[in-house]
Amino acid sequence: MNKIDKIFENNKKWIAEKLAINEDYFENLAKGQQPEFLYIGCSDSRVTAEDLMGVQPGEVFIHRNIANLVNNVDLNVMSVINYAIRHLKVNHVVVCGHYNCGGVKAAMQPVDMGILNPWLRNIRDVYRTHKDELNNIKDEDARYKRLVELNVQEQCVNLIKTAAVQEAYKDRGLMVHGWVFDIHSGKLIDLKIDFDNILKNIMEIYKLY
Ligand code: CO
Repeated sequence: MNKIDKIFENNKKWIAEKLAINEDYFENLAKGQQPEFLYIGCSDSRVTAEDLMGVQPGEVFIHRNIANLVNNVDLNVMSVINYAIRHLKVNHVVVCGHYNCGGVKAAMQPVDMGILNPWLRNIRDVYRTHKDELNNIKDEDARYKRLVELNVQEQCVNLIKTAAVQEAYKDRGLMVHGWVFDIHSGKLIDLKIDFDNILKNIMEIYKLY
């Protein structure tokens, strides 16, 4: 069986499994979605959002791009954030990075990556912002890991800069979370980003609401 046929075969099995548990499964799915979470993660094929969180269809609104960036002028991610927060009314927004991220690695090397240059520049900017801390880490692997974490933190900060997050925080206590998926162990690590403190620190400049 070729690889595409196999996928359609898998789909038939999946439908049967779902219907065996609940014959109205897809009818219920079709009624609408009320996800509690917005997940912003990396496109990396090894970091599958639903699988690693153990959630079902309907539970998480998902956006993935190279190196899980929340770029201020990316209409795609900004549309997702606005829709998830203002219309779907999610109460938690997660930025999930991962160790061994190819995008982060590429940003650490002096290489011309063509169309990826402006995208990866966002990560180089994270490096510049945290240059002192990162340059003090002599072990290259440890420095790479730390940049993955700081990149997640800075993308959380970018989220906090948006009117949608600021408004939902004030109205219903929406929370922003920074996580890292450890590809070596499968473990999801909560970076325990001090959301309230970051918010307080940056609102002087970024307050919109
Ligand atoms: Co990645």
